Amino acid sequence: MSDSDIAARHLAAIAIAAEAGDLARRQFLDRDAMTITFKGPQDWLTQADRQVEELVVGRIRSAFPGDACVGEESGGTEASSVWVIDPIDGTSNFARGVPHFCISIAYMRDRRIEAGAILNPITGEMFSARRGHGAFCNGRRMKVSGTSDFRLATIELGWSTRRSIEDYTRLLARVVSAGASFRRAGSGALGMAYVADGRNDGYAELHINVWDVLAGILMVREAGGWTNDFLAGDGFARGNAILAGAPGIHAPLVEATCIAA
Ligand code: IPD
Ligand code: CA
Repeated sequence: MSDSDIAARHLAAIAIAAEAGDLARRQFLDRDAMTITFKGPQDWLTQADRQVEELVVGRIRSAFPGDACVGEESGGTEASSVWVIDPIDGTSNFARGVPHFCISIAYMRDRRIEAGAILNPITGEMFSARRGHGAFCNGRRMKVSGTSDFRLATIELGWSTRRSIEDYTRLLARVVSAGASFRRAGSGALGMAYVADGRNDGYAELHINVWDVLAGILMVREAGGWTNDFLAGDGFARGNAILAGAPGIHAPLVEATCIAA
């Protein structure tokens, strides 16, 4: 695949995220009309998740008919040329009127993440990255934080019911005992984009799915940060632990989280 084919997909990811963002924003602002269900305890689903995914997948299929799509709501399988979509990441926030959610779209070729776009349609922040070409927020180049003292760091610790509360509280206790502050804002994709932009010094979660983090992994790396090998083993199909951060806190973050990186 040529450089211009990748460039076209990068631009398409941004344009499709923008269009999907309009749909998500309209639905967020009309909460009385929102249909809310649960896939399981604390696992929210709204009609917007499905509608936004349909829009994104439809646009990708008509622009790049030979590419595969894997989405949080419609599933799909890995292929050599594959798009990975989270239509609304931060659905619990979205459903409860908290403006911290996003559309996340990643493009991967031969197991290399080539392009990604993450849009918060309420703040209007479009985070984007292309492998080898940097990461940007609304056109401004992003850079991970320069923090080198773990006692000055803020780490986002993602949580879901897919891992036990004991494992989560142990992780939290170790990170805080090592001196860092923590937050859990409810969107893994935005949490990773915030690492890329130096708003979080790191992001850790004991299990997360590929659609939540693929675009964000590229952003962190392109902004000068590091991540674990999320795709190792069955990571694409079954999810994995994620760890990402700024270079200056690599050793203490690995030690505190016990996630290899
Ligand atoms: C969840 C969010 C959350 C993360 C979970 C994800 P959803 O996705 O990204 O921050 O901690 O692992 O499942 O349900 O909001 O699309
Ligand atoms: Ca998600």
